[in-house]
Order: sequence, then C-alpha cells, then structure tokens
Amino acid sequence: MPAHIAIIMDGNGRWARARHRPRVFGHTQGVKTVRRVVEGASEIGVKCLTLYSFSTENWTRPKAEIAALFNLLREYVESDLETLHGRNVRVRILGSRKGLKPDLLALIQRVEETTKNNTAFNLNIAFNYGGRDEILRASARAVAAGRDLSDMAEADFAPFLDTAGLPDVDLVIRTSGEKRISNFLLWQAAYAEFIFTDVLWPDFEVSDLQSAISEFHNRDRRFGNLNTPEVA
Ligand code: IPE
Ligand code: IPE
Ligand code: MG
Repeated sequence: MPAHIAIIMDGNGRWARARHRPRVFGHTQGVKTVRRVVEGASEIGVKCLTLYSFSTENWTRPKAEIAALFNLLREYVESDLETLHGRNVRVRILGSRKGLKPDLLALIQRVEETTKNNTAFNLNIAFNYGGRDEILRASARAVAAGRDLSDMAEADFAPFLDTAGLPDVDLVIRTSGEKRISNFLLWQAAYAEFIFTDVLWPDFEVSDLQSAISEFHNRDRRFGNLNTPEVA
C-alpha cells in the first residue's frame, strides 16, 4: 500500500456545467465524494490521505465561489468531526492561515486538537494551500527555531513543513483529465508516482482509487537508480 496518497480533486465545475447547474453544485457533490473516499480509503488499508481542496491560486476565483468553498469546508468539518474522531482518524488542515477568519481558525484548531492522538488514519485537508508558500513558511519556521538554512539536511527541513511527521507522498491522483501539479505538495511529492484519470471528482468512486493503487503497484520506481543492475 502506498504510505501516503494525495488527491487533486478536480472537475467539480465541469461536472456541474454538464448538468446545467451552478459550479457550487459541483462542489457540494464533491464533498459527498470526499466522505465516500475517506471511508473507502481507510477500509482498504490506506493510512495517510491528503486532499487538495483550496489552493493559494483559487483566491482568484469569483468571491461567491470562494465563499461557498469556505462554507463547505466549515460544514464538512463541523458535521463529520465526531464521526471521524469516533473512527480514530487524525485530521490536519495543511496550508496557510493567512486570510482565514477567526471562526474558521478556531474550528481548525478544534479539529486538530480533538483528533491529535488518533492513530488509525491520517486525513489531511490542504486548504488555502500552495506548495511554494508552504516551503517559504517552513523556511521561516526553521529560521525562527534558530536553524541555519545554509547548512541543513533535507531530512531536518521536513519537520518544519505542514506534513511534519508524515511520510512522503507515494502516489498523486488527479481527476478531470488535467495533467499538472498546480502547486500541490511540491516537496513531499518529489518522487511520487502520478496517475491522471478523466473521471470528474463528483463521479470518483472507491473503485477508481483501487484501480489507481493497482496501477501504482505496476510502476517501476527507481529513485534515480538504475532500473536493472549493470552487467559486469
Ligand atoms: C476542483 O474543481 C475544486 C477546486 C479547485 C476548489 P474545479 O472548481 O476546479 O472544477 P473545474 O476544474 O472548473 O471543472
Ligand atoms: C487545483 O485545481 C486545486 C484544487 C483541486 C483545490 P484547480 O482547478 O484550481 O487547478 P488549475 O487552475 O486547473 O491548475
Ligand atoms: Mg479545476
């Protein structure tokens, strides 16, 4: 099993447009997929799942859509916190806290604090997240902790990232047919395998996750080494 799976949940807008509905309807439907995938992933033995739900670039979208995405995060956390906690899930919200209102900050603090000792499953929601921003924030934290960036091992830097203590990403899945990273987990996905599917996020099923994991097992991961030992 990949130690850490990360998903770029894309295609909500196109899913809605195909149904002549507003984009926000696609996002609402996308939350149902989140519930299905979080439950399914933990049932099939995944231990760490990161979901990209709002990027630092998504601030360029219309105000009403941004507000809807913020409300959906709030509603999801408020309504599912107890269930997740009951299933021994540790929840982390990755990303910048800049621009978040006090009530949302309090909610994030509450969910992280409530679930911090849970051990069955790690659910990370990347919200107001950008990979470049995270690396800058991590660097600032390292400097504030008195560390010297000019003489620092990669392994010593990782604990300053939002994913401190979590394994590197083994598998990135992106839905909706787009084939790019869009500023997601730039550090952690340095050697991840990528799987792109045309399925739009609201249509994504646990079986699609299982197919991606099967395909992952057929990949030949080399980490810079030779794929076959050299013949003497
Ligand atoms: C993904 O769906 C959700 C977010 C980026 C917040 P989109 O809203 O990007 O949907 P498309 O790509 O326009 O179809
Ligand atoms: C990436 O999707 C961000 C999230 C899924 C939250 P976007 O739809 O924002 O990405 P681009 O703009 O197509 O690269
Ligand atoms: Mg998109």
